[in-house]
Amino acid sequence: MAGNAPDLDPLDEAAVDDLVARALVDIENASGLDELKAVRARCLGDGAPLVEANRRIGSLEPTMRGAAGRALGGARSALTEALDARQAVLEAAHEARLLVEEAVDVTVPTRRTPFGARHPLETLMEEVADFFVSMGWEIAEGPEIEHEWFNFDSLNFDIDHPARQMQDTLYVDGTSAGGSEPGDSHLVMRTHTSPVQSRAMLSRGVPLYVACPGKVFRSDALDATHTPVFHQVEGLAVDKGLTMAHLKGVLDHFARAMFGPDARTRLRPSFFPFTEPSAEMDLWFPQKKGGAGWIEWGGCGMVNPNVLRASGIDPQEYSGFAFGMGIERTLMLRHGISDMHDIVEGDVRFSQQFGLNGKGR
Ligand code: PHE
Repeated sequence: MAGNAPDLDPLDEAAVDDLVARALVDIENASGLDELKAVRARCLGDGAPLVEANRRIGSLEPTMRGAAGRALGGARSALTEALDARQAVLEAAHEARLLVEEAVDVTVPTRRTPFGARHPLETLMEEVADFFVSMGWEIAEGPEIEHEWFNFDSLNFDIDHPARQMQDTLYVDGTSAGGSEPGDSHLVMRTHTSPVQSRAMLSRGVPLYVACPGKVFRSDALDATHTPVFHQVEGLAVDKGLTMAHLKGVLDHFARAMFGPDARTRLRPSFFPFTEPSAEMDLWFPQKKGGAGWIEWGGCGMVNPNVLRASGIDPQEYSGFAFGMGIERTLMLRHGISDMHDIVEGDVRFSQQFGLNGKGR
């Protein structure tokens, strides 16, 4: 006897029909997959009247067994069919509901962490360094707080050269006992990358081919074309037999690497204490506002023999050329940036325009 229900007599056609009819109603009324699972267990699981009756078939009169088996089998397959059909309907409904409930609205605004961007000055400095390395030159660096001797004296600046004046040079206060007069420490924020020339000659010897990118400092106010902290790249070659022709060739090659195949340079006589002869270097600039023209790009010249001597190099045996240009200026010319503020203010939207390699590609 299963549960409280009376045993089902498989040969009682009305009882079997009644059981099937009631089960079909339960199946049809099952409103969810869990409920249907429970109905299936009640109809066809362990202890269900149909199952119990089936188990008892063996104990029936042999002549009765066939009819009993057919009756129970018919009832079971009717219920199985109805259960499966109902299950298919409920599963389809479930899936349809999931599609609606779990749909993702891709138009909902999200709180994303925006990507940063590399500053174009940084990528340009890398590009410049790569250019010189590709010619077999080395990269040299020096300190940003520099000794006055390297920044000026080793470079043949007179003791009263105007560039040493307070209005150009940022002096580091003296820290020695008793003295904190400006200039006492003989340390300056380097005003150019040229002191790295002397450092490289002293530490590396000759022959020497180095590029020195880095930060430099001058007591200028920030405006559209000036900033008190900016970047330069210095080039220095010292070898036997170097001439101004070598200098010109390197400059033209560098100009084309920075500004494209139409670029070239022009030298105008000028003066720097550390080069002789000295020249301003102009760049042929096809994209110049108001029409193609020459635009000043940097300074250069043959290394002054006094500078070679100060670093222990015999000017009778060796000659050298040097040049220096501003990285900000290069960036502004190349990309048509008209205001220095854009470069120094650090708005990520400015940097993003240049892309990963600094060229906007
Ligand atoms: N140091 C110079 C400047 O800052 C540039 C320069 C470098 C000129 C090397 C000649 C040779 O203006």
